[in-house]
Amino acid sequence: MKKKIMSGMRPTGKLHLGHYLGVIDNWVKLQDEYDCYFSVADWHALTTKYDKTETMKEDVLNVVMDWLACGIDPEKSTIYVQSLVPETAELHIYLSMITPQNWVERDPTLKDMAKILKSKEGMASQINYGLMGYPVLMTADILTFNADCVPVGIDQVAHVELTRDIARRFNNVYNTDFFVEPQPKLNNCSLICGLDGNKMGKSFNNDIKISDTAEITAKKVMSAITDRSRMRKDDPGHPDECEVAFKYWKIFGNNSEIETVKCECEKGLRGCADCKRQLGAKINERLATIREKRAYYENNPHEVERIIKEGSEKARVEAQKVLAEVRKLVKMY
Ligand code: TRP
Ligand code: SF4
Repeated sequence: MKKKIMSGMRPTGKLHLGHYLGVIDNWVKLQDEYDCYFSVADWHALTTKYDKTETMKEDVLNVVMDWLACGIDPEKSTIYVQSLVPETAELHIYLSMITPQNWVERDPTLKDMAKILKSKEGMASQINYGLMGYPVLMTADILTFNADCVPVGIDQVAHVELTRDIARRFNNVYNTDFFVEPQPKLNNCSLICGLDGNKMGKSFNNDIKISDTAEITAKKVMSAITDRSRMRKDDPGHPDECEVAFKYWKIFGNNSEIETVKCECEKGLRGCADCKRQLGAKINERLATIREKRAYYENNPHEVERIIKEGSEKARVEAQKVLAEVRKLVKMY
């Protein structure tokens, strides 16, 4: 029997290259070896955006379209929407009863989020009960399938550690070994920065979307920061101080291309504009098949809806098995 993987993403709408290179591409590679469950965590979105739900449906669809375009295969993996598997909510209740409050309070991601909310005027009251339960809800996501591994970015590892603690506590309290203590599996991939050199993010206006056209992508790449000390195109450049463009070359170019760019740049034989024009073409080459696939799903939204519906039904069947056992262990009526 294959080992099980569970991971998820909040429905933030159209995804960018940071999501693709940092998370999705990694999931794609795990699909053959593991039995995978990938969740669009719409309840997690509600923890901070409960009053901004107008675009929820569209956001969920866009996330799933990006996953499919990037190569998540619904024949191999189970793609589902969190709220369509209500068993997770039930499990969340049982887990919340056995989770000491201070375990949740020391969660670093939550502390950061609370700090950000507090710094916004009048937002202190928005640290709701549901937001405090965020890591326990994520634990419920993972334990709903009794997953063995959870592929996540470094920022989510603390949550998986908490999941292990809660799984162990459940096993102790109910005198069982039912829950596996899942392992975090760090995404081993290149972290791509934004066009301005900061972390790539939707709200920073520095991202390249998976769904951007080739033209928009090429244009965005032209705005990428280069070696700031370089005034003229025949000045010798410093690839290592080229804040964004050369870093992108290292992600998208092959070894000989990277070497050529480096040599020509250092010798002042390569202007930044030309360099970025080539880079844009290179990135577009890599994204061509992904874009084709995405266009297909955009034109066939009913197929995406069907994939979500069938995936969620399949996920529910597995979830119900786990919940039946949990109810028995907790000795519910
Ligand atoms: N909390 C994760 C994030 O914000 C998303 C998520 C929800 C998740 N449920 C999960 C990740 C389960 C891994 C496993 O990125
Ligand atoms: Fe960067 Fe290319 Fe300009 Fe060199 S030539 S500084 S690598 S953009």
